[in-house]
Amino acid sequence: MTDLDAVLGNAGPTGLKERIAAELAAVRERSLAYTDADDDMLVRQHSPLMSPLVWDLAHVGNYEELWVLREVGGIEPLRPEIDHLYDAFKHPRKDRPSLPLLGPAEARKYISGVRGRVLDVLDQVDLAAPDPLRSGGYVFGLVLQHEHQHDETMLATLQLSRRPGLVRDGELPPGRPAAEPEVHIPAGVFTMGTDTVAWAYDNERPAHRIYLPGYWIDRRPVTNAAYLEFVEDGGYRDPRWWLPQGWEWAERNGVEAPLYWTRDGDTWWRVRFGREEPVPPDEPVQHVSWYEADAYARWAGKRLPTEAEWEKACGGRTYPWGEADPGHLGRWANLGHRAARPSPAGAFPDGASPYGVEQLIGDVWEWTDSWFQPYPGYRCFPYEEYSKVFFGETYRVLRGGSWATHPSAVRTTFRNWDYPIRRQIFAGFRCARSEE
Ligand SMILES: [Fe+2]
Repeated sequence: MTDLDAVLGNAGPTGLKERIAAELAAVRERSLAYTDADDDMLVRQHSPLMSPLVWDLAHVGNYEELWVLREVGGIEPLRPEIDHLYDAFKHPRKDRPSLPLLGPAEARKYISGVRGRVLDVLDQVDLAAPDPLRSGGYVFGLVLQHEHQHDETMLATLQLSRRPGLVRDGELPPGRPAAEPEVHIPAGVFTMGTDTVAWAYDNERPAHRIYLPGYWIDRRPVTNAAYLEFVEDGGYRDPRWWLPQGWEWAERNGVEAPLYWTRDGDTWWRVRFGREEPVPPDEPVQHVSWYEADAYARWAGKRLPTEAEWEKACGGRTYPWGEADPGHLGRWANLGHRAARPSPAGAFPDGASPYGVEQLIGDVWEWTDSWFQPYPGYRCFPYEEYSKVFFGETYRVLRGGSWATHPSAVRTTFRNWDYPIRRQIFAGFRCARSEE
């Protein structure tokens, strides 16, 4: 299959344009649903870590204008005076509420004006052109994934707001017990990253062969019940399990359980989008920082997997279960906000990798031991601020997407990254260990 076929399902350029138009409509419906709230809710800053929701809303339209209208369509700026407000590098999140941002009604009007012109560009553009922004509809994949990524950020903001009634929940399949808690991955060479997934980001490229010694990896993400054992065993009070920076961070911030958890007598409760409920034992733990994940792993006599180990456990496919797009059937993974929570351990046996590792995609982002670094032969495309400026030893890599991640914005090669203290994202982890 060629690049283009992989995106099209062999439907030809017209089919690709139809698919892009449908995906653009779906993502916008999603963004508007998360911002279907009163103006106060949208302009307020719910946490200094996050932008006001109305910033995200106008920002996705501005990004779409920059890339599709100006870069590809050659169209003059619609509102050049607002560009700097929505440039994520010009104003840190904590300063965004004091900017003269577009109000909610104006933001909706602006992004819908951009979108109308984007559909005109889509109609005209040659998706078989050799230019890498046009080829295979890359620029549309870029803005689609970007908007879905901001939708997930908006969900994190809605969770931080603790306001009930704004985020819909849903049904998930039941969990099932695991026969063997760990899976052995034999030593050998595997191909990491991709040259062929059409809408992959620059940081997922190029594909390269690497050798890994044999290792064990948890079949499923660490559950709340397992994590609770660490908490109850005094894990947060014992510096033996923590890296010095992590210990200092936890002490300074009074961290003694995952974010949103509180203890009432013998019962642990959590707040989830404004609902208070007992912590469900069989769900993957979420809202833990990299430092907490790392401390748990040491306490458990294990370690976090490297991102190469995580990716190898997927079995060298676009998704652990094969090439079938998870957007079309809900059989394989908990993605795309089917419900506003991770699914219980063992809920998706059909989504297992060829090695039998489960729930790699969806449910919770998984912290890995790796820093966010370029692959050998990395080439920046289409701009430095997507990946390149973040490379180094500042951010840890997360893999696999969460329940809030849309199917078109995740795959086995997809790399996310964040500060090791980050907790408001929908992140958990699984453990690994080397062969003895
Ligand atoms: Fe952005």
